[in-house]
Amino acid sequence: MPNATNTTVTEILAAGDTAIATAASSITQGHPVAVPTETVYGLAADARNAEAIARIYDAKGRPAFNPLIVHVADLTAAERLAHFDKTALLLAERFWPGPLTLVLPKREDSPIASIATAGLETIAIRIPAHPVMRALLAACECPLAAPSANASGRISPTTAAHVVASLGGRIALVIDGGPCQAGLESTIVRTAGHGAEILRPGPVTREMLAQATGLKVTLAYETPDLAISAPGQLASHYAPRKPLAYDVTSSDADDYVIGFGATDGDFNLSAHGDLAEAAARLFDALHAADASDALRIVVAPIPDCGIGRAINDRLRRATA
Ligand code: TXA
Ligand code: MG
Repeated sequence: MPNATNTTVTEILAAGDTAIATAASSITQGHPVAVPTETVYGLAADARNAEAIARIYDAKGRPAFNPLIVHVADLTAAERLAHFDKTALLLAERFWPGPLTLVLPKREDSPIASIATAGLETIAIRIPAHPVMRALLAACECPLAAPSANASGRISPTTAAHVVASLGGRIALVIDGGPCQAGLESTIVRTAGHGAEILRPGPVTREMLAQATGLKVTLAYETPDLAISAPGQLASHYAPRKPLAYDVTSSDADDYVIGFGATDGDFNLSAHGDLAEAAARLFDALHAADASDALRIVVAPIPDCGIGRAINDRLRRATA
């Protein structure tokens, strides 16, 4: 659990010019702010300011060996932080701004605080598409480190209410920009020689990556030594408070049933079997299940293709 005391008053401001100006001034003073992105809500701070980054780790109760994703406004800003090979440039041009994070060799002269990258020689970078996050980047004029805005190890927030439920009293400000469109964390990719490795599956699918690059795309997150290459991908992450079973076709009366398609339940991820809709609603379903009186969460089978693979990855981690 986090070390900080729950004494801060958490203010929620509707997205708009006032909220952006307030958030930018808070970030300039070294205080993290929760902000919507197209994937999940992030807890953002100036990535060059070690003390501000330490406040992110403290608010989340996040282990210091787990590095953060650094968000920038454009490719020029990204190239100041990392070395891009041909494949990385191809991916950046095709998928940025958007829900793709690239793990790249860090530049020796990078201004990023080493606590943000947990001392690694690589850095995870993303150019977000969400207008509120983009407005914040423009107002702050600095790279923003932002992990998902939840207590460490818990489900990522896809609404401002989720953020408050997880970090209320521990952060000063949440910008409310409504529910996140993708609803799952960004795809994390590392380029490797003539291919690309997915370290975390997400909204940009293996099929999309292969088509854009014409290269071999491997699923590195399925290999056991992943803890070394992506420290945050430890199996114990993304957990709800209750036991969870997935790919399940039968349930007990006191289960909270998360359905998909024709398999209905207390919460149907997508009645007409749309995987993108299911991804966008997954964490909302898990939050609702956690808040219910049920003793166990069971989830109907989800097709393991496209973004369904990212959904099943999060469910697998939620069982740990
Ligand atoms: O969609 C997202 O990516 C959201 C929004 C806010 O941008 N952010 C997010 O951050 O999901 P977080 O901290 O919850 O997940 C970041 C993941 C962690 O698993 C971390 O270990 C991994 O990225 N990561 C960060 N830097 C890395 C690096 N240099 N090498 C490998 N993995 C890295
Ligand atoms: Mg996270």
